Amino acid sequence: MPVQSICCIGAGYVGGPTCAVIAAKCPHITVTVTDSNAARIEQWNSDILPIYEPGLEELVKRCRGVNLFFSTDVKGAVKKADLIFISVNTPTKVKGAAGEVGLAPDLQYVELAARTIAREAKEGLTLVVEKSTVPVRAAATISEMLASANRPGVSFQVLSNPEFLSEGTAIKNLLHPDRVLIGGENQQAISDLADIYAAWVPRERILETSTWSSELSKLVANALLAQRISSINAASELCEMTGANVSEVAKAVGMDSRIGPKFLNPSIGFGGSCFHKDIMSLVYLCKHYHLPENAEYWQDIINMNTHQRVRFCRKIVSSLFNTVSHKKIAVFGFAFKKDTGDTRESSSIVVADYLIGEGAEVFIYDPKVPDRQILTDLKLPQITKEISPGVITPEGIVDKSVHICRDPYDAARGAHAVVVCTEWDEFTTLDYQVIYDSMQKPAFLFDGRMILNHDTLMKIGFRVHCIGKSLNHPNKTNGASATNGYH
Ligand code: NAI
Repeated sequence: MPVQSICCIGAGYVGGPTCAVIAAKCPHITVTVTDSNAARIEQWNSDILPIYEPGLEELVKRCRGVNLFFSTDVKGAVKKADLIFISVNTPTKVKGAAGEVGLAPDLQYVELAARTIAREAKEGLTLVVEKSTVPVRAAATISEMLASANRPGVSFQVLSNPEFLSEGTAIKNLLHPDRVLIGGENQQAISDLADIYAAWVPRERILETSTWSSELSKLVANALLAQRISSINAASELCEMTGANVSEVAKAVGMDSRIGPKFLNPSIGFGGSCFHKDIMSLVYLCKHYHLPENAEYWQDIINMNTHQRVRFCRKIVSSLFNTVSHKKIAVFGFAFKKDTGDTRESSSIVVADYLIGEGAEVFIYDPKVPDRQILTDLKLPQITKEISPGVITPEGIVDKSVHICRDPYDAARGAHAVVVCTEWDEFTTLDYQVIYDSMQKPAFLFDGRMILNHDTLMKIGFRVHCIGKSLNHPNKTNGASATNGYH
């Protein structure tokens, strides 16, 4: 049955871009993206979209009102759909049984979506596609909920079709995916979904597996990606101790074709809504199946990430003569990575929160994150509190200590230190002489993303600290030496 009408439940970072690309590539299909959040839908229907992704605005403006629609009428869109994507959020549980809180994904939104589909789907067959990242065997639970409505003449096929897009490059990833993964038990249903993607994805890149393999592949893929980051970050600390340079190490190991160069950038640690929660979901699965060694193995990826963040924060304070109290610190970047306005689990939250806790005045600049999002994140962090678990920075302190700036020069004026937290390209092209001249002396710069030219910065006069490269290690033979006064 060729699909003519698609409904997507969840107009977020996955649902919005995915459906925009499907609408652009399949003009014969009507795509309706729905969400219970009316404000979000209003933004999708406005000139200022709720999320920033390079290339997204152009696609949405081209297709919106033609074959792409955004609506709060979930039931109405479900009623008309041949295929429904469940693309709702699946955050880690914050309430519930002790063994589940902080580990297992909260499937309440998936369940709500499934119940709506069960009640409202049209007569005949509807394909229900899990786009959200879910634990293994979630499809079985969804099938059970759909079947329990027990409506004569209404039937469902559930497929797993996890999304591998990366925020910041979502449109590029969706247009040219490494692979599209479809897991299912019914060949016709798999083929119907594959036919949609085949409009622009070469058939050999459309991979068919069992439902369970597909669900688990998404969790394992994210765990392996995060593991590479934690591995290079673990190496970065050793480099600082030994006088090695982690960028040179990353290049040398990455040229091994068995290893490859991607995801080997040392940093203050990974963020984003997925890595942390998907690894915790994997840890939960391992514990559920009584595999304690496996659970510990995956958990260590998170532990190393926490360690990297904490040691970066400590380095800032210790370098600034062991106190940042009443000092002005400029934070460059608040998004969890460049080219997105998403701040979920951003390392910037951890850094700003730590500095506020130490009594600093924090001046934050990010080109895409809205002011109110920064304040919300710091007052009610959407992050797993690692440094001071369970503590929420009091609202009054945030209002007093946090200042949002219109540009990076403004943020740095009069500051004791600049801390680069997000790898936005624009931070590499700033006039650091101007920034240096406007700062308190000695002027410190902490490059948490390894994107700046440290030799140039040191020539200007900055005291530079970065990740995985000690700029005054006794073994260092070129560039600035300890006698330059750089730490
Ligand atoms: P999101 O939080 O941006 O969007 C989810 C949307 O679903 C929200 O707008 C929410 O209001 C809506 N929603 C929840 N329950 C609903 C219901 N019953 N009816 C209507 N709308 C409902 O989440 P995001 O980032 O798009 O992620 C969605 C899923 O995709 C998650 O499982 C995530 O793990 C996965 N994923 C996310 C990626 C990312 O880069 N953000 C990449 C790959 C997978």
